[in-house]
Amino acid sequence: MSRSRLITALDVKSPAEMKTLVDTLGESVSFYKVGMELFYSAGTLPLDYLKTHKKHVFLDLKLHDIPNTVAQAVAALTRLGADLISVHTQGGREMMQAAARSAAITAAELGIERPRLVGITALTSFSETGWEEIGGTVPIVTHVEKLALLAQAAGLDGVVCSPQEAARLRALLGPDFLLVTPGIRPAFASLDDQERIMTPKDALAAGSSYLVIGRPITKADDPKAAAQTIIAEMEESK
Ligand code: C5P
Repeated sequence: MSRSRLITALDVKSPAEMKTLVDTLGESVSFYKVGMELFYSAGTLPLDYLKTHKKHVFLDLKLHDIPNTVAQAVAALTRLGADLISVHTQGGREMMQAAARSAAITAAELGIERPRLVGITALTSFSETGWEEIGGTVPIVTHVEKLALLAQAAGLDGVVCSPQEAARLRALLGPDFLLVTPGIRPAFASLDDQERIMTPKDALAAGSSYLVIGRPITKADDPKAAAQTIIAEMEESK
């Protein structure tokens, strides 16, 4: 079902804005992304609200620390009810294994479904020059593939990637690995600051599992109509 594969990014500043948006979107959106901005400013309130309203939550905090600390953080986020959690693949194999183990153990203790873990490979904000500055010696795209394979081997459920990388990663990682793609612009929307974009239909055809879409919905005059138009565009890929 296309609706369940759309994740709306709640890039808003306050719980009040979040509630208005979630209420406005109603049944048309079932999955939301809560990122650093909202989580660090509003704490667990957005999660509580979304879970009370039976929504799925992608908690995109890009965890990156030593294995034990990330494992404890994943346990805490699992207890909060997150359905999807992002961790940095650059934390390495042990860190990712510890995160995956922690999600499984905590969920089993609580008798709930285990959250899925997705890895951040290289931030798409990197230019090749910026990449070299931090010691990158191979092209970013080569490194992304290496980190995605490591994420899979370490037991993560998927990665976050550009829709432009989706086809290649889908072929490399098989049909079941989750590919979560931001950088989506429906036919009707403006580009904002996104450059390497794809339409919802093309991103799904390239192998995306979930589309993360923010401003085309959240900044639309009629957010609900925008979400419904996007879902209709997603249906076209079938
Ligand atoms: O508003 P827009 O649809 O561009 O929002 C996309 C969401 O995905 C934002 O929360 C943004 O931070 C995030 N994101 C992105 N590009 C990446 C990684 C994350 O746009 N490469």
